[in-house]
Amino acid sequence: MANSDLIVGLEIGTSKICVVVGETRPDGTLRILGVGQAPSRGVRKGEIVDFETAMKCVHEAVVDAEQKSDVMIRSVYVAVAGGHIQSFNNRGCVLLPEERDEIDDQDVEDVKINAREVSIPAQNAFLHSIIQHYQVDGQDGVLNPVGMLGGKLEADFHIIHGVRTRIQNTIRCVKELPLEVEDVVFSALASAQVVLTQHQKNLGALVVDIGGGTTDYILYVDGAVKQSGAIAIGGDHITNDISMGLRIPMARAEKLKTEEGSCVLGNCLPGETILLKDDSGFAGKEIERETLNTIIHLRLRETFELLKRTVEEEPFINYVGAGIFITGGCSLVNGIDHLAGEIFEMPAHVTHAQTLSGLTSAVENPQFSTAIGLLKYAQAVQVDRPRRGITRIFGRFFSGMR
Ligand SMILES: Nc1ncnc2c1ncn2[C@@H]1O[C@H](COP(=O)(O)OP(=O)(O)OP(=O)(O)O)[C@@H](O)[C@H]1O
Ligand SMILES: [Mg+2]
Repeated sequence: MANSDLIVGLEIGTSKICVVVGETRPDGTLRILGVGQAPSRGVRKGEIVDFETAMKCVHEAVVDAEQKSDVMIRSVYVAVAGGHIQSFNNRGCVLLPEERDEIDDQDVEDVKINAREVSIPAQNAFLHSIIQHYQVDGQDGVLNPVGMLGGKLEADFHIIHGVRTRIQNTIRCVKELPLEVEDVVFSALASAQVVLTQHQKNLGALVVDIGGGTTDYILYVDGAVKQSGAIAIGGDHITNDISMGLRIPMARAEKLKTEEGSCVLGNCLPGETILLKDDSGFAGKEIERETLNTIIHLRLRETFELLKRTVEEEPFINYVGAGIFITGGCSLVNGIDHLAGEIFEMPAHVTHAQTLSGLTSAVENPQFSTAIGLLKYAQAVQVDRPRRGITRIFGRFFSGMR
């Protein structure tokens, strides 16, 4: 198979490293060939804190993916997350010179650059400038201005940025292996590519990817990205609360959460208990099911309420018609959709990657949404970058970055 047909997505998550190998087919569809995984170490809240250890884990996951998909991986698209990711909306404007009245590719590029002429913190770097709308001489709703006649091109962008060195650490971790980094993509933007349909983006949707250490979100209204960001809280905080609250080891708390946990209150029989068998170094214990569920409920409620306060700083949540789409490993908590729906007062759905062929088990696992989403993102930027509105400004950012 020609290597150019291959796309590889890598997520260096707090809980797991995930490498998804995909193939673009002649009809434009994507097929997943294999998924490699390794437990993550050296990563906290979505950010690398132990470079050497994280690198070894990434290597392990890459080797696993190569074996599962029977291909040699040379380059990857990498997801980035973490509480340092920030975003804002801004308008760019370009006036065409008097002797020319047809808008060309360079004007589109210039308007994007103009929109980025705002000060962001000195230690930050731009990750994405995502087109929302073009306007030509005040005419709204222009999808592709190239070739149109006009004197003034305006464009609204959603701009995502983050701390330069933290993004660089992710890139270096991959480059040292050595693998090429094709692009770096905000993780919720990647997830949204596969958990939402275009129709849902048009109706308005909030994607929330709750992983082990971070909750990343991205909000669409009228098909355009309006808001995005990350909160440094995830499923591991629930595990920690269970461990502390019930005084049991972290590993037991994790198992208890994933196998028995729920965030629905008042659903247990009175006095219903779960028996934790004794284990080496652990005497065994009986715990009340309602207590376990209350711990999970309270942490998730707090996370959703914080997220709600964050998104309500802007008005866009009021225009979300399709509802909330929860993905990431923590979306597997029983009852999470009801809790999110109650807090946000809108329909909430647990979801995973849609409309992809290949390994069903991988596609249906919400833990892989980000890595699978990277494939779809890559396909979009490779095929039709300007029209899809996802720009790759990163090449310039990471040249000379090692
Ligand atoms: N069945 C389950 N029920 C509840 N929680 C689960 C289940 N399976 C996995 N999780 C939780 O999902 C989290 C891991 O999710 P995910 O793999 O999406 O995280 P990650 O991508 O590694 O982390 P991040 O994106 O935050 O850096 C862990 O906290 C894990 O306990
Ligand atoms: Mg993740």
